[in-house]
Amino acid sequence: RIEAEAGAALLHWYDAHARQMPWRVGPAARATGQRPDPYRVWLSEVMLQQTTVAAVRGYFERFTALWPDVLALAAAPDAQVMGEWAGLGYYARARNLLKCARAVRDLHGGRFPADHDALLALPGIGRYTAASLGAIAFDLPLTVVDGNVERVMARLFAVEQPLPGAKPALTDRAAALTPKLRPGDHAQAVMDLGATICTPRRPACGICPLMDLCMARAEGRAAELPRKLAKKPK
Ligand code: ADE
Repeated sequence: RIEAEAGAALLHWYDAHARQMPWRVGPAARATGQRPDPYRVWLSEVMLQQTTVAAVRGYFERFTALWPDVLALAAAPDAQVMGEWAGLGYYARARNLLKCARAVRDLHGGRFPADHDALLALPGIGRYTAASLGAIAFDLPLTVVDGNVERVMARLFAVEQPLPGAKPALTDRAAALTPKLRPGDHAQAVMDLGATICTPRRPACGICPLMDLCMARAEGRAAELPRKLAKKPK
């Protein structure tokens, strides 16, 4: 089955090619079963919404130097946090960041809950963040869907329907691909693949771990997918 084969190929590729990021655990530590710190995963995922990995790195390093854990952040003065956030944009994210840190302190004793519904109930944690935090930090079998994941699914399964209408179908595809073991590494593998190989333009199909499975690649038209409905002029 293509799903099982693609899932295995992605994890195999991730073990050799995962991008190093300050909130990730390296392959050697991962092999010993070490998990990433939920606080760092949460902070990175909130920062990465609407912002690139390259832009986030410096902010992430400054935030974690100032506030190494969720209790430290919860105790920070609002104005200082907003000041450190300056430049990242979407300031509601920073306000929700503080609300969430304080809710984790007040409702969960300073530890992020390893439960999907409890994560979703926290301020500022929506579908995307609950899934990514749950999968990456706690290995809950959740499917993470962002623009990278949608693009990889559209190509792997040669989905012709344009975005945004195709979103539910692409989400279903992504869910079918998510393995029960290592769902967090799987999620990050698909995101890394989309960011580095299965790129919007000029995808590097020749070095893709899914090249033998990809339906769009078989037809030589990966770069044409996903289709997008032309935006209506306002
Ligand atoms: N974009 C958002 N979160 C990410 C992650 N954990 N890995 C790679 N890219 C991402």
